[in-house]
Amino acid sequence: MKINVCIGSSCHLKGSRLVVSALQELVKAHGLETSVDLCGKFCMGNCQKGVSIEFNGKHFSANEENIEDLFHKEILSNIK
Ligand code: FES
Repeated sequence: MKINVCIGSSCHLKGSRLVVSALQELVKAHGLETSVDLCGKFCMGNCQKGVSIEFNGKHFSANEENIEDLFHKEILSNIK
């Protein structure tokens, strides 16, 4: 599964770097390094909802607080 995280300027200011490192840790903690491909992407046109992330054709608004929840509810359940 490919997960795109927006690293455009607006999302960067909203903490995309923190979202990326949280995702990296979650992927590692669940041993999913071979099934999840984390990619950076420039502006996805949802700046006001940043940090924008996208997977399986769906867009989500991520932040440091909700990323773990999002990972469990939306990502993990689509992998297993
Ligand atoms: S900068 Fe992330 S959606 Fe625009």
